[in-house]
Amino acid sequence: MQNFTFHNPTRILFGEGQIKALDAHVPCEARVLITFGGGSIKSNGVLAQVQAALGHRAWFVFGGIEPNPTYETLMEAVALARDKKVDFLLAVRGGSVIDGTKFIAAALKFDGEPWDILAKQAEVHDAVPFGSVLTLPATGAEMNSGGVISYRARGDKLPFRSEATYPRFSVLDPTTTYSLPPRQIANGVVDAFVHIVEQYLTYPVDARVQDRFAEGLLVTLTEIGPQALAEPHNYDVRANLMWTATLALNGLIGAGVPQDWATHMLGHEITALHGLDHAQTLAIVLPAMLSVRREQKRAKLLQYAERVWGIVQGTEAERITAAITATRVFFERMSVGTRLRDYQIGGSSIGTLMAKLEEHGMTALGEHGDVTPEVSRRVYQLAV
Ligand code: NZQ
Ligand code: ZN
Repeated sequence: MQNFTFHNPTRILFGEGQIKALDAHVPCEARVLITFGGGSIKSNGVLAQVQAALGHRAWFVFGGIEPNPTYETLMEAVALARDKKVDFLLAVRGGSVIDGTKFIAAALKFDGEPWDILAKQAEVHDAVPFGSVLTLPATGAEMNSGGVISYRARGDKLPFRSEATYPRFSVLDPTTTYSLPPRQIANGVVDAFVHIVEQYLTYPVDARVQDRFAEGLLVTLTEIGPQALAEPHNYDVRANLMWTATLALNGLIGAGVPQDWATHMLGHEITALHGLDHAQTLAIVLPAMLSVRREQKRAKLLQYAERVWGIVQGTEAERITAAITATRVFFERMSVGTRLRDYQIGGSSIGTLMAKLEEHGMTALGEHGDVTPEVSRRVYQLAV
């Protein structure tokens, strides 16, 4: 096992009715900016519950944060927060709003041009405190310190992270997910699945409990993913999905093990260029990535085949192929297309994707740093 430091300061308030607990966890004298996206939190009653829980506190709202939140929109929120002298932020929705709120929190305390936090990976030392009310199990943003922000005008989508941008708390009430459309449930399952894979499917370092945790989370997703689509109001299924997605990316399974993240970086470029949902890009890239790198990942692919998919018959090569196919079939069973052509994208965009990847310095990706531009190009080509 590799050396690690593990510290996660986010308090989780889990279960039906927990939005009321905001009253105990938002400072009494706070001036709160509630951040959200489109209309979902109004129509499903979540915003009303949040406002009731905040009671007498001074609160303001900033809506319109898009999926794949943009710098342009977030800087409007920064201006509003300054104008209203806000000292606490409350993100209500999924990863995009939580990520966006992390950026707003950091930008409010940042000396200089906030886009440098993304473009130059400028260090964030301080941020306005914030919490979240999660309505979409997927990204793990509710219990981690990272965010991914897009700059629409430049066609960029870039990640950042800081110790200062962990949420103080996150409310996880599974009933808030009942109103999710099937596409977003499917996206959430695929995103969480790929988060686990990117921390598990590398090379063995005898990290037994991390491996077993990861395999348990993956098997759970294969069981509850289709159920979550079929039974939208099944509380237990939604509760399991919500907690699985959080555990997939809160640092626990990634402690002490090598990590990959090449699939995510190649996927971000597809979103930036073509506007696909984050999870759709992962469903496209991952099977191709595993195929291209099957030799480097051989030992873990065999373990994955056996422990996640129960594949024990055949030669090693056959078992690896079967595991990659099972992964693709699972994504497709969730109704998420796994090839660029499923989204009417052809190979002609690969040149632009490659140019952006290189512009962003994504030239030595993966657990060995050996995902060079040549390897990435082969992955994109195989994904057509
Ligand atoms: O805008 P509204 O009307 O609210 O609708 C939203 C939005 O259109 C809808 N939605 C959310 N909760 C709902 C609901 N509709 C009905 N009922 C509900 N309860 O879902 C749509 C998508 O929301 P979004 O927040 O964009 O989704 P998600 O949570 O999948 O976030 C994706 C973003 O997170 C980033 C991705 O890159 C992407 O930008 N990621 C963040 C990570 C992190 N912070 O650690 C890691 C991930 O790998 C990922 O990169
Ligand atoms: Zn992701």
